[in-house]
Amino acid sequence: MNAPAVQAPPAAAGLLLSEQDFEALAKVIHVETGIFMPAGKRALMQSRLAKRLAARGLKDFREYRELVESRSEPDEIGLMISALTTNITRFFREAQHFDDLRENVLPGLLDRARAGGRVRMWSAGCSTGEEPYSMALSVLALCPEAPRLDVRILATDLDPVVVATAEAGRYPASALANLPEDVAAGATTPDKADPGFARICDSARKLISFRVLNLLHDWPFHGRFDVIMCRNVVIYFDAETRDRLWTRFAAMQPSGARIYVGHSERIAGEVGALYAPSGITAYTRTETPPPGGGRSISK
Ligand SMILES: C[S@@+](CC[C@H](N)C(=O)[O-])C[C@H]1O[C@@H](n2cnc3c(N)ncnc32)[C@H](O)[C@@H]1O
Repeated sequence: MNAPAVQAPPAAAGLLLSEQDFEALAKVIHVETGIFMPAGKRALMQSRLAKRLAARGLKDFREYRELVESRSEPDEIGLMISALTTNITRFFREAQHFDDLRENVLPGLLDRARAGGRVRMWSAGCSTGEEPYSMALSVLALCPEAPRLDVRILATDLDPVVVATAEAGRYPASALANLPEDVAAGATTPDKADPGFARICDSARKLISFRVLNLLHDWPFHGRFDVIMCRNVVIYFDAETRDRLWTRFAAMQPSGARIYVGHSERIAGEVGALYAPSGITAYTRTETPPPGGGRSISK
């Protein structure tokens, strides 16, 4: 990337991230995640990655850059990405999506499940789990028997640290204090060991499979998803990577299926024909076939 010259940011503990090292690391991040880090993010990268240098006992960013570029330690790339991405989330975030899910989408899907059919939902970029648990609690509010039906929620994120937190299903009680009334009953149980925490109920946990998955890599499944939530994930992707992702999602959704994106995200332009707007940042899959069947866009 041709970054304009930026004044060197003040370094913590004497560590300076040079423009060259910033550009090299930003390139690795872009290739690995689709996240575009403009030159203005140099100070942020410097402060967030200082702890990785300390953890690795490295003396400067040049050594860290060499370690990352050598790709000899894939785990370090994951940890670098984890240090640089934001995992902010909360239960029933962007409540209108869950209202739409409960009022307009789930009733039909759950009728299908009760008749023996299959229902699949995906929280893509699930962070610490609040989003897929909100989906699961919405399902249970309408269909308490869902764990005995063929209803499953896939929850994925590239960051193994947040996926482990999600899988544990344990949250500060304050984070669970304002669940919508119709889902709250039985949704959580107090953590006996620590009254400040609560656990998500087993029936919600049973509906969800958690996996580490980079959305830019191959997807090791073929199913069709009736609902996808991919919210506040593509915000830092460049336009091409974002549109490739929408096209791949479209290849995994039958017509009539719903996708929800983040409040500042849109499915528009060249890929706009794949989805019809269905409310605020909600879209319904059209019958338009994705270019190349969605395959050409896999990395
Ligand atoms: C801000 S959180 C959003 C969480 C949730 N979807 C929500 O809206 O509340 C963004 C998540 O996207 C994940 N992420 C970013 N790039 C990704 C990629 N290429 N593949 C998979 N997950 C990614 C990050 O690790 C982070 O947990």
